[in-house]
Amino acid sequence: MSQAQLDNPGTYLPNDTMQMFRAAWELPAQCAAAWRIGRDAPVPPAKPYRNIVVTGLGGSAIGGDLLRVFTAGRLEIPVIVNRDYRLPRFVDDATLVFAVSYSGNTEETLSAYDDARGRGAAVVALTTGGRLGEQARRDMVPLITIPAGIAPRAATGYLFLPTLAVLERLGFLDGMDAEVDGLVRHLEILRGRYGPDAPAERNPAKQLAQNLYERLPVIWGVTGTTEVAAQRWKGQINENAKAPAYWSAFPELNHNEIVGFEQPAGVLRGVWLVVLRDPEDHPRVNLRVEITRSFVGTAAGMSEFIASGPTRLARLYSLIYLGDYTSLYLAVLYGTDPGPVRVIDRLKAELGAR
Ligand code: F6R
Repeated sequence: MSQAQLDNPGTYLPNDTMQMFRAAWELPAQCAAAWRIGRDAPVPPAKPYRNIVVTGLGGSAIGGDLLRVFTAGRLEIPVIVNRDYRLPRFVDDATLVFAVSYSGNTEETLSAYDDARGRGAAVVALTTGGRLGEQARRDMVPLITIPAGIAPRAATGYLFLPTLAVLERLGFLDGMDAEVDGLVRHLEILRGRYGPDAPAERNPAKQLAQNLYERLPVIWGVTGTTEVAAQRWKGQINENAKAPAYWSAFPELNHNEIVGFEQPAGVLRGVWLVVLRDPEDHPRVNLRVEITRSFVGTAAGMSEFIASGPTRLARLYSLIYLGDYTSLYLAVLYGTDPGPVRVIDRLKAELGAR
């Protein structure tokens, strides 16, 4: 697939067997629907929870990171994301646990669900069904059922916004209707800029995919704001384009990673850096980004994007949306069907058989 063909969606959309482009285009409507689902969902008892844990993996865990980053400046209790079979020791009957699995069959999440129940935590299950859905029904645990039929990583709206709605309904947050409204309206604008019909000459997602092609993407976010987008970009490039990518975040990367740009020259020539920033980043972090440029001149190139949007939620998602589209165009350039993730499916099948 040549770069010019990114402007001919008719040549690649028919090969997108799981309709990943369509799911990306429909993200604004998904977010609106996900919010409604969350507002109508069953909620656990309102009580003075001391902490919140979101347990899940991959596409089902990133919503937990969105919740963690989005609520960090608003909640008086911590949100922790758990990507493992077991929950941390502090989880007890004062913990609210969201067990999130799109398929409902991810073994780590099923195990963590049992762990949460065993420790007396209040659990909410968020899934399309599967064994998690069955188990939650059997245990009479609040169950939020979301629509099936798309790849988990294409379902971030469904996998994140209902958790936000539950927290608002429990009294932890307010003003979320306006946040979600701003998000949906902004995504509708952005898809016109990033979608397949926007020509490469003014489409940042297509341009960036061209820069990342045959290179190693290294995505840098900022702790507390764009770190979640950086992590998401990495996962989306891996799963959609079937290509390697790495991420880290300021200011931590200033204390180690920047030293690693002296050699080997052959590797560094293939690295393309992407810096993701937010207008609310700490002024000292902004200074760090400026200074850091001088240490990484050996990389092939660098792109920088600043989150946009009328609300904090819209800003968080604006960069995620750009990364989602970039990873889809990168898949097109590599001639790869973005949807199937056969390696993950095979691993799960092999684990399931033992
Ligand atoms: C596949 C994907 C994966 C899954 C992960 C967990 O699109 O994004 O990262 O999300 O393997 O599976 P679920 O989400 O079904 O619990």
